[in-house]
Amino acid sequence: MLGKVTKAYVAQYPDPIRFGAGDAVRVERADPEFPGWFWCSTPDGGAGWVHGSFLAAQSGDTTSLVNYSSKELTVVGGEEGESIHVLDGWVLVKLFRGEVGWIPEAHFVHHPAEEAGAEAEDGPCRIEMVPDTMGADCDLVRQWLREFNVQANPEFMALLEQPGHQALPLVLLAKVDGKVVGGLLAETQLSWLRISIMAVDPRWRACGIGSALLEESVRQALVRGCRQAYVDTMDYQAPGFYQSQGFAVVGRIPDWDSRGHAKLYLTKRLA
Ligand SMILES: CC(C)(COP(=O)(O)OP(=O)(O)OC[C@H]1O[C@@H](n2cnc3c(N)ncnc32)[C@H](O)[C@@H]1OP(=O)(O)O)[C@@H](O)C(=O)NCCC(=O)NCCS
Repeated sequence: MLGKVTKAYVAQYPDPIRFGAGDAVRVERADPEFPGWFWCSTPDGGAGWVHGSFLAAQSGDTTSLVNYSSKELTVVGGEEGESIHVLDGWVLVKLFRGEVGWIPEAHFVHHPAEEAGAEAEDGPCRIEMVPDTMGADCDLVRQWLREFNVQANPEFMALLEQPGHQALPLVLLAKVDGKVVGGLLAETQLSWLRISIMAVDPRWRACGIGSALLEESVRQALVRGCRQAYVDTMDYQAPGFYQSQGFAVVGRIPDWDSRGHAKLYLTKRLA
């Protein structure tokens, strides 16, 4: 369940105990402050707090039922994340910034359920927000799209599957006396050359290096069977440069940077 940190917490134990499912663990003592938690040790010298539900027994020598780490997180108020376990005063959180660890339950509040499902209160569908695109549920979403695409555009999807039709990097560096002075990072796939990054050392700009890199990329792309090129650039970057090289603006998204600058999409027919 999603929620957020309500107040700062500083991790107390720099050296957490870690073990895998089935590993030997010794239960040393119960925690009087947080009943349900036990101070445990491992044969490799590790020690830390473990919840009793993760252990086969809650006293003496036992084994772990799960992969476990007692790692705590240092957090500040307002950080958001997903709770993985809430156990007797502690919550295992996966923060949106990526870290996973324990913090006291008193420092975390779950978002009210109606916030997460606000759009769909009247129906069976509940909308949930998750922290990232990993995980089996997102794989399922990707699979539905793939299946749809295979039905709608079988020829293209079959082409992508064929050997040699995956995106191939096309990376060009311009050098003077062995030192890099400019570069063009692109890839080719089917009939397209897609340029993602291009820059020239400021000391070497307006000397023809950019156009030489672009020309070479087009030459290589033609050898690979490409017939068109694509690039996007911000209005303050190099639309004029690409236009001078035969590219035409085919699209524009205003205020791309939320500061009033547009992103421009340009293409060029190569053959
Ligand atoms: C854009 C860039 C790669 C061009 O490289 P370059 O080596 O300076 O370009 P060239 O010397 O080959 O210039 C070719 C022509 O384009 C023009 N030109 C170069 N950069 C330009 C720009 N940003 N806007 C408009 N015209 C430009 C040149 O004046 C020249 O015109 P000319 O033939 O009439 O003399 C380079 O200026 C650069 O690194 N800019 C900063 C980073 C950037 O904007 N990258 C593109 C991100 S998509």
